[in-house]
Amino acid sequence: VSFIRHTQTVVSEQELEMAMAPSKVVVLMAFMAAALSSVSMAAGLQHGFYYSSCPQAEDTVRNVVQGMINNDPTMGAAFVRLFFHDCFVRGCDASILLDPTTSNPQTEKTTIPLRGYDAVNKIKAAVEAVCSRVVSCADILAFAARDSIVASGGFNFHMPSGRLDGFRSIADEVFQGIPSPAFQLQELLDNFATKGLNAEDLVVLSGAHSFGLTHCNFVTPRLYPTVDPTMNATFAAALKKVCPPPRNGGGFISVSNNRVTDPNKLSNQFYHNVASGQVLFTSDQTLMDQTPTTGNKTAAMVTDNAANPIAWMARFAGAMVKMGGIEVLTRTDPGEVRKVCFATNNAS
Ligand code: HEM
Repeated sequence: VSFIRHTQTVVSEQELEMAMAPSKVVVLMAFMAAALSSVSMAAGLQHGFYYSSCPQAEDTVRNVVQGMINNDPTMGAAFVRLFFHDCFVRGCDASILLDPTTSNPQTEKTTIPLRGYDAVNKIKAAVEAVCSRVVSCADILAFAARDSIVASGGFNFHMPSGRLDGFRSIADEVFQGIPSPAFQLQELLDNFATKGLNAEDLVVLSGAHSFGLTHCNFVTPRLYPTVDPTMNATFAAALKKVCPPPRNGGGFISVSNNRVTDPNKLSNQFYHNVASGQVLFTSDQTLMDQTPTTGNKTAAMVTDNAANPIAWMARFAGAMVKMGGIEVLTRTDPGEVRKVCFATNNAS
């Protein structure tokens, strides 16, 4: 079994910066703390799970994802969000991808609309063309998210693999698992804790809101009838022009998560936006708040991630790996490698 032990290497931020210098693409794969390695190993995942069974697997996913992002630079965010939604509802088992069937008309995807389902089916078809029935859809989602980070964020890391695809997908579980953009800090911390993620994971992963799209209906509660006082007034005035009051039919208009700099670049800009009141959701802005148990810990992390882009990249990579280990199905669990991502192999 090909197994790379490099996650046990821990390096300083200075070394990271030196590693960054020669190339635009920062290779962070060697730089995750040993603790993170043990998280995915405990989950039964490993680096290069397909190195012998399908050596082209990861390259194939990367090439297709890169091509899609070249055609549509917003697609990177779609893949990252799909992975988040998959992992937060019954673990990273590709349950998010299952289409409704006669026996199960209410799958996860019938609830919150997400982008990228067709794109994932195309990636799967490309992988099937090189290795039939070897690479799970859960791992394809994980690789596509990682490759989106490479393409849109400019940093690279190893994503452990070996997940199996699950058999079930239940609409009602979506609202129990996915946090609301109206959540306050304590609610977010509680939600993440149920997934084994901590305050730092919450702050670090929220940096994904530096890119991608949202819809006005998630923003208008902070604009009407009065502007949320934690939102920057100039920012709010401009946002009101894009997002009219909901009764005027503005709910489905798309807006960029990051309205300050390049909306398709994954970066630590999110933390500058939080600190200056220029984020869209209550759940973003509340990271500046305090709770009785955490004090101003998350606000301090926002400041730190704003000041240290390289450190944030390393943390984000680590937190994505950690998120990718949530309740995964591996060899001894009931699961399968699907033939197509939108249906189980015995779908009816
Ligand atoms: C902390 C709690 C979170 C809340 C409340 C939240 C909420 C939301 C909402 C409401 C949207 C806009 C959806 C739409 O209008 O279609 C969104 C978009 C997005 N979220 Fe989150 N999110 C959270 C955490 C995360 C995490 C952990 C990630 C990934 C690591 C993530 C990645 C994204 C991305 C990339 C988009 C843009 C998607 C696109 O362009 O299609 N979010 N989020």
